Amino acid sequence: MNCYFNPVQTIQGPGCLARLPELLHKLPQDQRRVLVIAWSEEALQHPVLAALLAPGCEFEGRSLVFTASNPTVEQLFDTWESTRDFAPNVVIGVGGGTILDVAKSLCCLYGCPLKDTDDLRARIAAGGLKPAARWIGVPTTAGTGSEVTCWATIWDPEQDAKRSLESKENYAWAALVDPELAQGMPVRLAVSSALDAVAHAVESYWARSTNAVSRALALEAIRTIMGNIDDLFSGSIEAHDAMARGSMLAGLAFSNTKTTACHSISYPLTMHYGIPHGAAVALLLAPVLALNAPAVQDPDALMDALGVNSAAMLQRRIAGLLIRSAQPASLEGWGVVHSDLAHLAGLGITKGRADNNPVTLTPDCIEAMLESIYCMDAVPCMR
Ligand SMILES: [Fe+2]
Repeated sequence: MNCYFNPVQTIQGPGCLARLPELLHKLPQDQRRVLVIAWSEEALQHPVLAALLAPGCEFEGRSLVFTASNPTVEQLFDTWESTRDFAPNVVIGVGGGTILDVAKSLCCLYGCPLKDTDDLRARIAAGGLKPAARWIGVPTTAGTGSEVTCWATIWDPEQDAKRSLESKENYAWAALVDPELAQGMPVRLAVSSALDAVAHAVESYWARSTNAVSRALALEAIRTIMGNIDDLFSGSIEAHDAMARGSMLAGLAFSNTKTTACHSISYPLTMHYGIPHGAAVALLLAPVLALNAPAVQDPDALMDALGVNSAAMLQRRIAGLLIRSAQPASLEGWGVVHSDLAHLAGLGITKGRADNNPVTLTPDCIEAMLESIYCMDAVPCMR
């Protein structure tokens, strides 16, 4: 029987970033060096962050803008090198999953005398990294759930690998999930991020490592997102609030189960073809549902939360959302070369994800799933 544990203090709702100073005032007077990592200069202009970084402020603040997506080993090393002398007590990540993953990773690296990027690779692979600072997650895209998980994805294109920096001692001190920060984001990013969160919840629900708490959180996350995702196209704050809430619940669910086949198979699609993470996992949800359905406990509850009655209906629903948000709904549409499918299928079995799927994955069954989402004709739009 699997147990559930998550220590992150979660604060969610419109305007909740205003609670940040209240949190920071709990820091001892001699531990008030604060590093803010944001995805843009504009994000740093938010009044709460600007006040924190103002000269003469009671906190010693520094800021850093990190614009890349899918952080690499080299980028993480460079960021660590440029901030290690400051040695922050708290790192605040303001942005999407990339920013939060960089923020939490840095906390585990400040105590390390890293020599170079190979040394960093070796330490990530060895595991056992302990945080020397604490971090606060402020997600600006509702999707990754990174604010409530204790692992970070670091990409390593030079070695054709995806690495996971993980420490159960490195959960966030707090997560401030403010949907006002997501307002105005491009609708295609909002939709793909929301579908990534749906995948986190669905995969948590059927994972081999699932548990009763994660399953309950997962169903509520799926209902919240799928019941409100169409309202993202109007850009309403209510829709963004629902996505932020659902994404956080999904994060809490999969923080204890990790993901399964959709994520495992999606990684080479992102690494080799640049398909955005949310779109890649969304494309895989329906075929993996069809594969897993016989092994899912209480599949009716899952279908009910998704608002569909079959995998085919889910495929049409997701295709409709992708196309409506100006994103291809097939691998062909994303530029994947058909003759690469067998190779991509072989790369889709990743440790810790594929072996967490309730049905055993083989290269052949993955290739069949990739084939099923390859052609535009296979996924007609539903509007
Ligand atoms: Fe994801």
